[in-house]
Amino acid sequence: MWTLILKLFSVPIVRLGLWLPCLDYVPVSILDYLGFLNELLLHLDSHLSSSLLKTMLLVLLCWFFGVTGLLFILYSWFIPAVVQFNGSLALLWHDVIVQHALDTLTRSTQPQRLMKAVQKHATRGDPQSVISAIDYYCRHREWAMNIGDEKGSILDSVVSELNPEKVLELGTYCGYSTVRIARLLPPGARLITLEFNADYAAVARQVIAWAGLEDRVQLVEGASEDWIPRMKEHFGIETFDLVFLDHWKDRYLPDTKLMEDCGLLRKGTVLLADNVICPGVPDYLQYVRNSLSYRSCYFKSHLEYTKAEDGLEKSVFLG
Ligand SMILES: C[S@@+](CC[C@H](N)C(=O)[O-])C[C@H]1O[C@@H](n2cnc3c(N)ncnc32)[C@H](O)[C@@H]1O
Repeated sequence: MWTLILKLFSVPIVRLGLWLPCLDYVPVSILDYLGFLNELLLHLDSHLSSSLLKTMLLVLLCWFFGVTGLLFILYSWFIPAVVQFNGSLALLWHDVIVQHALDTLTRSTQPQRLMKAVQKHATRGDPQSVISAIDYYCRHREWAMNIGDEKGSILDSVVSELNPEKVLELGTYCGYSTVRIARLLPPGARLITLEFNADYAAVARQVIAWAGLEDRVQLVEGASEDWIPRMKEHFGIETFDLVFLDHWKDRYLPDTKLMEDCGLLRKGTVLLADNVICPGVPDYLQYVRNSLSYRSCYFKSHLEYTKAEDGLEKSVFLG
């Protein structure tokens, strides 16, 4: 009888485990746990006669699986559905709480999990499949701070319209936007992308290589404030055609002024800035919207993989 009860509970619970984002880890521990429970109940079945004790165990099992089910609904459906309309709450839930929980549970980092999704679902040498694999993972399994599919299509249209030969990206993370930009560049064009986190840079290199775009992309490990002044001397760059700003928000304005001072902007250079509403860059917006050196416009969209407002600011340097 106990074995039957256990089987009744174990099938839905293992299925539930399969839906969890830490896919490769949770079912194993659940199966271990169920195996242990099976042993225990078989043992009790042969040694205990008290029907009261058995009823208590049954109630305990129902309570355990009820609470587990409730937590699962809250975690995978209810909270994500509620927070997706508010950018700050969405960032707090996904970027802080869920990410730290998954890091601890799976003993891996988000970039490693993203890379795994790419290896599993994307075709080598096919940038579009890399983009789709990351978008699918981030929409259905785990939010990540890539520009995402919705704002990504705005980025695509700016890149296609400009057809730039020299592009600078500030903030690589796992290389999602790098792949998006690089796949649209004309032959012979260069994309330099800056990332100061060595672990992120290592994963981004693998993602870019998986997409087959390593010959167009130069990933530079280091801080933007250190590398911007060295662009001319180190890479022989005179000016950029397009700069994509997507690093920490407090660096948008100082790095823009630094690029101006270093002469890296020419008449017609486009600055495209992500996350200008969420988390927001009020000092940068105030500068590019009020300066006579820029013609600036806003593209309304949503924070990656949510329904909270965010957008891109496109600012053309007028010299
Ligand atoms: C929002 S993520 C970039 C996302 C990426 N552009 C995409 O859409 O796939 C910001 C990244 O910028 C990096 N970063 C922040 N400040 C930086 C700086 N001053 N120099 C270089 N990298 C920086 C962070 O480590 C982080 O990986």
